[in-house]
Amino acid sequence: MHKRSDSAVSVSRRTFVRAFGIGGASAAMLPRANLLAMVAPRAAAPLAPVLLHNNENPVGPSPAALEAMDRILGGGEPAGRYPFDAARGLPGAIAEVIGVPGDRVMVGNGSTQLLRTATQVFTSPSRPLVAGALTYEECAGYAGVVGHPVRKVALTDDLMLDLDGMVEAARGGGMVFLNNPNNPTGTVHSEAAVAGFIERTLAADPEVVVCVDEAYHDYVTDPSYGTAIPLAVDNERVLVARTFSKAHGMAGMRIGYMVGHPAALNRMRRWHYGLSLNVLALAAAASSIRDQTTIRRERNRNTEARAYTIDWFHRRGLSTTDSQTNFIFVKTGLPAGAFREACAQYNVLVGRDFSPYQDQWMRISLGTMSEMARATEVFDQVMTDLDRLSSRRREAAA
Ligand SMILES: Cc1ncc(COP(=O)(O)O)c(C=O)c1O
Repeated sequence: MHKRSDSAVSVSRRTFVRAFGIGGASAAMLPRANLLAMVAPRAAAPLAPVLLHNNENPVGPSPAALEAMDRILGGGEPAGRYPFDAARGLPGAIAEVIGVPGDRVMVGNGSTQLLRTATQVFTSPSRPLVAGALTYEECAGYAGVVGHPVRKVALTDDLMLDLDGMVEAARGGGMVFLNNPNNPTGTVHSEAAVAGFIERTLAADPEVVVCVDEAYHDYVTDPSYGTAIPLAVDNERVLVARTFSKAHGMAGMRIGYMVGHPAALNRMRRWHYGLSLNVLALAAAASSIRDQTTIRRERNRNTEARAYTIDWFHRRGLSTTDSQTNFIFVKTGLPAGAFREACAQYNVLVGRDFSPYQDQWMRISLGTMSEMARATEVFDQVMTDLDRLSSRRREAAA
């Protein structure tokens, strides 16, 4: 068992070298002929799939996280015990790093579990969930499951969450979900705009709660952005969700956390199944949050891949939103389904349909630089093929 974990660590180190060192820079500079050779034509032996459809971190957990799991498995016993102590330890480690008291942090089986619990507790049949359309759909989906109504507020013309519209919709609401930066558009609101939004929302209704989901916090480079955590620490009506699934590279390990006032978190605890966590992920998360050097390196790696990919689309004359995340939202002008299926033929998987934008917009998660070099060659091919097909169809119809 110990040996297996060692090899996981060394694979991860190789991946790090590729991502942060020579691999990243050299892929961007590869001559076009080499890039074309990296693209899998339909009939050739398939290359490993490039997974650009779930906003994951292509590099995976940090070496510190892998080593923490190795220690647990090497020790044997902790994995045979219920995770009471480990689950008590992680909130303290998170609190120390983000600078809040320990009782302000609650951990869950991915932030999804906590977002669902918050939706369950703070909305009701008479107190709807208020959310953007489009935004991350988990809270609205879960409100539907438990039979609580949802008020959706359309995006503005520049594909930003409509903060004014959401304040209006908050009257009589139970919980307002604000995803900042927003999935799937990738856009961000400034720290000042979010603070003003929270103040106006809480004033609009004496009961409504604001839940800010900062899943992509570590990827933001816009200097006007800032976390809403300081606003949640002493206010029973403000919550902030974070996850280890993105910059920490632990999507498969299922750990997230909620920051809030103890009174709000205790209301959630009545519904929350605390033993849904496992000792491996808890140990890995505690080590990962302390390793902010790796997070900074991951942000830089992603920023480089993001700039390369956005620039590639802009040079083709296509528009994108100003992504502050590990995915981009791009107006290919093609139906998302056709684009997605054509890319899948080349073993490059891209995002799903996002109604009502699926006729022209596509969400593409960011991989490593070499994956994005391969993916953009595929996009080039696919757009050329689809353009040709539609002009042939137009000619045939004329
Ligand atoms: C905005 C947002 N919140 C939460 C999640 C889910 O996070 P977790 O893996 O912690 O459940 C996602 C996943 O894509 C997301 O985009």
